[in-house]
Amino acid sequence: MRNKNTQTIIITGASWGDEGKGKIVDFLASEADIVARFQGGNNAGHTVVVKGKKYKFHLIPSGAIKNKTIVIGNGVVIDPEVLFEELEMLKTEGFTPDLKISNTAHVIFPFHKLLDGMEEITKGKYAAGTTKRGIGPTYSDKASRYGIRVFDLLHKDIFLNKFSRLYDLKLKIYKAFSGNSQDWELNKQEIIDNYLKFGEIMRPYVISSAYYLNSALDNGKKILLEGAQGCLLGIDHGMYPYGTSSITWAGGAPGGCGISPTRIDKIIGVIKAYTSRVGGGPVPTELDGELAHQIREQGHEYGTTTGRPRRVGWIDLFNLKYATMINNYDSLAITLLDALEGVNPIKLCVGYTLNGEKLDSWPIHSELIAQCTPDYISMPGWEPRSSEEWSKIAKEGFEALPTEIKNYIAKIEDILGTPIGIVSIGPDREDTILRTTFWD
Ligand code: IMP
Repeated sequence: MRNKNTQTIIITGASWGDEGKGKIVDFLASEADIVARFQGGNNAGHTVVVKGKKYKFHLIPSGAIKNKTIVIGNGVVIDPEVLFEELEMLKTEGFTPDLKISNTAHVIFPFHKLLDGMEEITKGKYAAGTTKRGIGPTYSDKASRYGIRVFDLLHKDIFLNKFSRLYDLKLKIYKAFSGNSQDWELNKQEIIDNYLKFGEIMRPYVISSAYYLNSALDNGKKILLEGAQGCLLGIDHGMYPYGTSSITWAGGAPGGCGISPTRIDKIIGVIKAYTSRVGGGPVPTELDGELAHQIREQGHEYGTTTGRPRRVGWIDLFNLKYATMINNYDSLAITLLDALEGVNPIKLCVGYTLNGEKLDSWPIHSELIAQCTPDYISMPGWEPRSSEEWSKIAKEGFEALPTEIKNYIAKIEDILGTPIGIVSIGPDREDTILRTTFWD
């Protein structure tokens, strides 16, 4: 860490997403000037609760309800209709964030969503159970250089040329997938007209995120870089192919908004008191039956984006150790400790065994992970409390936490070798205990 005031903090999920990042971002956004997203799209679902009122975002950075400058970086994929819906919602609620959109962010089209579903079917047991928001197909087009960027929407000639190429290709792929058995119901001219209109609506917000953010840093501004999904869902360091298509670990932040890694001051990883997962792939610590039901209900573990019930399990410190190693977090934030109330004892996975041998590294490959059995330690759980009691504890601070929670936190810190600087024991912004200063 450098010897200067903190200007940039990255917040990313350490696990399979849904760790409660939205709340932590919202919490730390108070002192930031800018909140920027750097990857993913509206596959994300960020919930922020303020004084009992819930705000849900999929695309717009969570700093929106703090009326900050919010930046959608070049690494994000944008569904313009979702963007406009969220902007409208913010306006209706009386929020006035200053939105900036990168001109090099890629754009999601209706055929991306259509093909997302079809590709999943062909993948069989390797289907990730995507959110069907067109995320994978849009990133694929970006990588194979067929994609259309925000800049293109602002220039009719460029757009028409690129769009025709892309549309014709997608139609061919659709026909191959469907064996000509289904009608292609998308109308080329209608998409062109709509997206040119969308471009006009976006025009006033469009910037170069690289120039904008670097100049903001030069001028002493503080930037919070908000990750979506989680490290273990990432295209490089996740449990491929059961993840998403973007770079979800902290390394994705500089690339996804155009600032140097040397300008990053702090990295925070968000973990949950237990594990949750939406979609396919092995989850070694997965629970079922009564206990899974209890945790799912207490933690409201239903997808913000799709409404799907989430798979839940014990905390997996073996895969989190991998995330901790590559991200080299300065601090962790732990969420949903309140949701584990009444569960006793609590198990913590501290390693995997494969073919009778204890592994010394997380095996990353889904085929190997599927064959592993988790090695557990047990710790005493804590009693249930009312939400008022949890809020009172949060007001009083860390020392007021039940001893069992303090011990649980200390054990996780010890195994992961990283301090837990933020403790969240309820959904509201206020139900948060800060143990250190982040914007120093
Ligand atoms: P996609 O991002 O829609 O392509 O989905 C790929 C995989 O990532 C699926 O298993 C999804 O359930 C999962 N996923 C995508 N976004 C999120 C998220 O925000 N939270 C949790 N899981 C997600």
